[in-house]
Amino acid sequence: MRAFIALELSAQLRSELGRLVERLRPGLGKVGWVKPDKMHLTLKFLGEIDEGRADLIAEGLRQACGRLPQFSFEAVGIGCFPSARRPRVVWAGIEGEIERARELQRGVDAALAPLGFEPEGRPFSPHITLGRARGPVRSDLLEAAIDGHKGVRFGGQRVTEAVLMRSRLRPGGPIYTPLARAELRAIEA
Ligand code: 2AM
Repeated sequence: MRAFIALELSAQLRSELGRLVERLRPGLGKVGWVKPDKMHLTLKFLGEIDEGRADLIAEGLRQACGRLPQFSFEAVGIGCFPSARRPRVVWAGIEGEIERARELQRGVDAALAPLGFEPEGRPFSPHITLGRARGPVRSDLLEAAIDGHKGVRFGGQRVTEAVLMRSRLRPGGPIYTPLARAELRAIEA
């Protein structure tokens, strides 16, 4: 099965990002927009895993998360990968306690390396994917939208856990199912 490790988004943030997508959608071209209930922040993509190893992965994830503190982030502005000229992925940016998010991504990477998952070679650029190009995209309109949303805040939330997700690819869009949850360390008052 296909799996990945993600941070779930609050209902409020998903609904705000859903409104953003409705504003972006007209005219931008062939983009597969992510439905609000599917929006998430990916920490690590695992690819195909044996179902029987999910418990071991969950255990590694819990060990990493149990040591790392909860944190907060805000979704701010939009952007795209790899470039505005040739957009493949449109995303909402992340601000706030980014160092905590990086620490978590590194911790998860390190915990899963002994299980055979390659640590990420590229620097972690946390983002919330809003859409993926499915054909020609009006990059001029997208650039204007990116400029027009500089510094626009879509809402914030606290991160208290990371989730091991199963992803089933279906013609109607992927189906994500949480397999295990790993709590971050609560900060003592
Ligand atoms: P992204 O959208 O945050 O960039 C579930 O499929 C998630 O795993 C996706 O949201 C995507 O993250 C990430 N993902 C999917 N396929 C991937 C791949 N081949 N390499 C890296 N990450 C991938």
